[in-house]
Amino acid sequence: MPDADISGARTSFDASAEPILEFDRVVVHYGASRALNEVSLRVRPGEIVSLLGGNASGKSTTMKTALGLLKPSSGAVRIDGVEVSGTPPSTRIRAGLASVPEARRVFPAMTVQENLFVGGYIRKERRSILAARAAEMFEHFPRLAERRGQRAGTLSGGEQQMLAFARALMSKPRLICMDEPTMGLSPKFVDRVLDEIARLNRELGLAILIVEQQAELALSIAHTANVLRTGEIVLHGPADELIGDPAVRDAYLGKATV
Ligand SMILES: Nc1ncnc2c1ncn2[C@@H]1O[C@H](COP(=O)(O)OP(=O)(O)OP(=O)(O)O)[C@@H](O)[C@H]1O
Ligand SMILES: [Mg+2]
Repeated sequence: MPDADISGARTSFDASAEPILEFDRVVVHYGASRALNEVSLRVRPGEIVSLLGGNASGKSTTMKTALGLLKPSSGAVRIDGVEVSGTPPSTRIRAGLASVPEARRVFPAMTVQENLFVGGYIRKERRSILAARAAEMFEHFPRLAERRGQRAGTLSGGEQQMLAFARALMSKPRLICMDEPTMGLSPKFVDRVLDEIARLNRELGLAILIVEQQAELALSIAHTANVLRTGEIVLHGPADELIGDPAVRDAYLGKATV
């Protein structure tokens, strides 16, 4: 099925394409305690995949496993069909993954421009390549261009998050993993950051794996959603079919009352 336009408001993606990232019955333990139980999921080129679930359901564990910060005890993590389960984060970054941590994790004492260069050094690129790439970022994020010499710690929360995106893009990723990128932002900035994520997907064709606590907002920008509960995927499907599905709410409430 070529170019399935799962939601009219987002970019379309090829649902038959080989996934960039694939989890195949992944189990992850912290010591003796099992945090993920046979989690299978896929992120295809250009797809926004939302990870939903209550507190302690395994969302961050899934992200860390994707990025190579945690190793599965069984099952496989694949990038472009190649198993990477035991490889470190640097291998995943070279393969095209990047991460944007929560809002304020920029280097506060460095300028906007210096922060961007740090993002590019992950791939040990030449300075001229980094400068060209930073110029692309300033074109894409004019607000950052106006503030290129300003210390990152003095930017507003929303601007810091924008800088965190731009820094992640400096390594030319195909898939960006975001664990609660809107955490700590005011509601006005939450909308703006989610709009920005949809724009990165639309304009750059980036695939995005995102954890966002506010389910309705997450489903409004995602193509596909996975709902986790105590380390298992209990619901999976096109985001616009899951919006308003009482089972999504039940998955949260079920967890919250435990
Ligand atoms: N380093 C660790 N050592 C031991 N247990 C851990 C560790 N990190 C997470 N856990 C446990 O694994 C389970 C899943 O945690 P995880 O952080 O993935 O949840 P989450 O869905 O991201 O929750 P939240 O919405 O609160 O961020 C929890 O029970 C948590 O206590
Ligand atoms: Mg978490």
